[in-house]
Amino acid sequence: MNRMYNMDMGWKFSRIEKEKGITNSHREMYLGVKAGRMGGEISKNFDDSDWQEVTLPHDYVIATEIKEENGFRDCFERGFAWYRKSFALDHSFQDKQIGLCFEGIALQAEIYLNGSLIYRTFSSYTEHFIDITDRVYIGGKVNTLVVKTNATTACSEMWTYEGGGIYRHVKLYAKNKSAHIAHNGIFAYADLLEEEKKLWQFNVQTELENASYERACCTVKACLLDKNSQVMELYSEEISLNSYENKIVKLNGEISNPTLWDVENPYLYNVVVTVSVNGEIVDEETISMGFRYYHFDSQKGFYLNGRHLKLKGVCCHQDHGGCGVAVPDEMQYQRVKLLKDMGANMYRSAHNNPAKEILDACDKLGLLVIDENRRFEASVENLKHIESVTKRDRNHPSVFLYCLFNEEALQNTEEGRRIFKRLKYEVKKHDWTRLFTGAMHGNFDGAGKEMEVCGINYGYGYLDALHEKHPDVCLLGAENNSQISTRGSYKTDKEGEHVISCYDDECVPWGNTVKGNWKFIREREYMSGCSVWNGFDFHGEPIMTWPTVNSQYGLMDICGFPKGVYHVCKSCYLEEPMVKLLPHWNWEEGENIRVIISSNCEETELFVNGESLGRKASDCCEPNEWNVPFKCGAIEARGYNNGELVAVDIEKTAYTPKKVKVEVNKTSFVNDGNDTLILNCAVVDENGTEHPLAVNTLYFTAEEGLELIGVGNGDPNSHDSEVANERKLYFGKCQAIFRVKRFAEKIKVIVRGENLEPCELSFDVENTVDTTSYIETVKNNYITNFDVTASSVEWIDPKMVIDVDDMNTLLPIEIEEDSFQSDYHSGWKLYRTFISLPKTLGSKAKKRDFSLYFDDVKVNKMFVFVDGEEIYKTDITHRYTTGAINCEFSGFEDTVVELRILVHINLEAEDGAGFRKSIRII
Ligand code: GAL
Repeated sequence: MNRMYNMDMGWKFSRIEKEKGITNSHREMYLGVKAGRMGGEISKNFDDSDWQEVTLPHDYVIATEIKEENGFRDCFERGFAWYRKSFALDHSFQDKQIGLCFEGIALQAEIYLNGSLIYRTFSSYTEHFIDITDRVYIGGKVNTLVVKTNATTACSEMWTYEGGGIYRHVKLYAKNKSAHIAHNGIFAYADLLEEEKKLWQFNVQTELENASYERACCTVKACLLDKNSQVMELYSEEISLNSYENKIVKLNGEISNPTLWDVENPYLYNVVVTVSVNGEIVDEETISMGFRYYHFDSQKGFYLNGRHLKLKGVCCHQDHGGCGVAVPDEMQYQRVKLLKDMGANMYRSAHNNPAKEILDACDKLGLLVIDENRRFEASVENLKHIESVTKRDRNHPSVFLYCLFNEEALQNTEEGRRIFKRLKYEVKKHDWTRLFTGAMHGNFDGAGKEMEVCGINYGYGYLDALHEKHPDVCLLGAENNSQISTRGSYKTDKEGEHVISCYDDECVPWGNTVKGNWKFIREREYMSGCSVWNGFDFHGEPIMTWPTVNSQYGLMDICGFPKGVYHVCKSCYLEEPMVKLLPHWNWEEGENIRVIISSNCEETELFVNGESLGRKASDCCEPNEWNVPFKCGAIEARGYNNGELVAVDIEKTAYTPKKVKVEVNKTSFVNDGNDTLILNCAVVDENGTEHPLAVNTLYFTAEEGLELIGVGNGDPNSHDSEVANERKLYFGKCQAIFRVKRFAEKIKVIVRGENLEPCELSFDVENTVDTTSYIETVKNNYITNFDVTASSVEWIDPKMVIDVDDMNTLLPIEIEEDSFQSDYHSGWKLYRTFISLPKTLGSKAKKRDFSLYFDDVKVNKMFVFVDGEEIYKTDITHRYTTGAINCEFSGFEDTVVELRILVHINLEAEDGAGFRKSIRII
């Protein structure tokens, strides 16, 4: 049966300090471009034992030092890096189509397998499926997968932080070569036939692939399942596929009154597609999908499932504090949940195609997604990118709009219109069920003509005029606000402390406050909705000069800790009644404090130390305010609807911090190597009240089952390392993120701070690890590449001079797994190769004894030389030496030596001789 394997574990990683210059040696140039023989870090025999071991997803840029001179606005160090993974596939992989899928590499990469370049990537946001069937070794022979990443500014696609490295998952697929489901080959969608009768047509389109040299015949079955049982079964006729042919099979059936996917009840169905040959199942894949319908109306806005819905959106970048762009799946879910809890019903993945885990979270939590393309180019590469993204994303019910650009200089030109049309056409080949938009600033004369929905960024000053002039055009706020604020700060000091109050007072000149924007949007029926810029602060694009290194556009900081404006937005977006007091209640005695109640209730009332300061009619866009002289104690906000108390919030004065307080993302964990523990930390006084101004440094000790990913505190001016075991609280908060190790039975972490009672947490971990579903990393000390002379009846001088540029006296040969060579003639042969002597961690150029180990040898005579010195000989005339041979010699670690092996073969009684299995250096 076909299977998917996890390739995230056990990668070796090294930054590239200096790019190798061009060599003058003919030999290096000649071999450096030959399939299977590329040298240095790419080579199969390269010793990576002293490289750092990393688990994916991984972003190496986030671990670098923040320096002003690094420039590019996020101040991290970019650059190149190597990743290597050696792995073996056993005989069960024989006769399979083997595919490697890199779900995202930043920014660009070259991918090498077994000494050959097999792929170049073009965009950080595309997944890359690479068929490696013809290049991969099956059996014990070790495969060497090498990725060289380039995260320099020359490859930039964004104007903010982009990270660097293999930052999304890597998977290996093994499929029967003959008929199977092509990668991302299923498209399940539903057409509403009759709204009144709730009658739908359910469609499953399956792309079949035959990656073999023989014709194949198969049948396809698709089952639709709801949460409890099977709802429908569809069967295809017998389908025949020529060798290397792909064919699309369409199945459909009618269904009445399915449970709809909605932002309030995001109901998902499963679709199981099976491919059978002669009644036997050869491939099976399950995807989820949803039934929903929607349309835009140029006067009245947006309708989902026939119901009017104002789109309450948030734009998000893809990086997070402590992990950069390598955001763990669990963190993706938590980030989307924070938006959903705020009342958002739309997510714009600005300005790139999102990780699929974000789409999974939006499917499950009920947010519609604007899935955004990055490069606005109709280039060959970008058309490939668009195809791959569309095929990956089209089954997600959350995805409802494809956004083809953001603020492009070409947007209003005829050229821009042509590019848009071409990209749209390419998407529609694979998904004709979504609508198209672009995020424009300015009018929409060019590309706008090709859109079903015109996305406008900001545009407060001209939207009414635009609508009046083009009443038939559907309008959506694709990007709004750009409010600016610092979490925890209730004063603005741009020159000194580089902070901005988070009461929702400030925005960029082209933007709006959160309340101001919502007032604008809710008053205009023609506006189908808006998308707040931004859900979270992100690395880079700072709005102030050094030492500020992060943006401050977020409703939350870079760790997902809500700012005051998050609550303002919540009061605008959320339906359920809420109140939230701003600010905290820790000030100087007598200081005059501006108190705001953000609320969606009809009335709000403020109590200071138990005394009411009056009840007032309330509006989320004009929150009630009081000026209150500070006195220790508590303030309380109450919200009323129809005169009844429906929501309460209290802020208490916090005294000297006594204890560490930690909130965790969840309490049940699994040990598949991909689960995450997130610690949101604060300090509390003896009454348990969190101190909002605390700056204590907290220290994290992972005692069992955990591996630190990173830390953050939301401070946009901090230059402390985000990959560290400690973090200072910023306005009372910090966060630490840990990976739950594979096979962990328990996790335990202690958080300490000076003069604070520590917090110790431990959880049992559920064993879900399926050891058969990982491609493990294996040791690679095999020598496989040799050059060899032709057989000679005459003795060959093992010390013969071979010109450095001579590529023809000896010819390349691979020591194959499990096969003696049958093309031998009796006589002499000389093998030659260059090997790098393995290094022991941290001890370069140390002299020690090495062992050259031949797993299986079948020769008549054998002499082994290292750098011209004989280290072994066997000379048993008329008898074969078979079995393992071990030769010892001494040398310096990490130096390159020449290995020559002279053998004599006598084939009178044997049919095959030479080296079998492998030659290893230990
Ligand atoms: C927009 C742009 C965003 C961000 C924002 C800041 O023009 O699309 O990426 O730069 O401005 O206000």
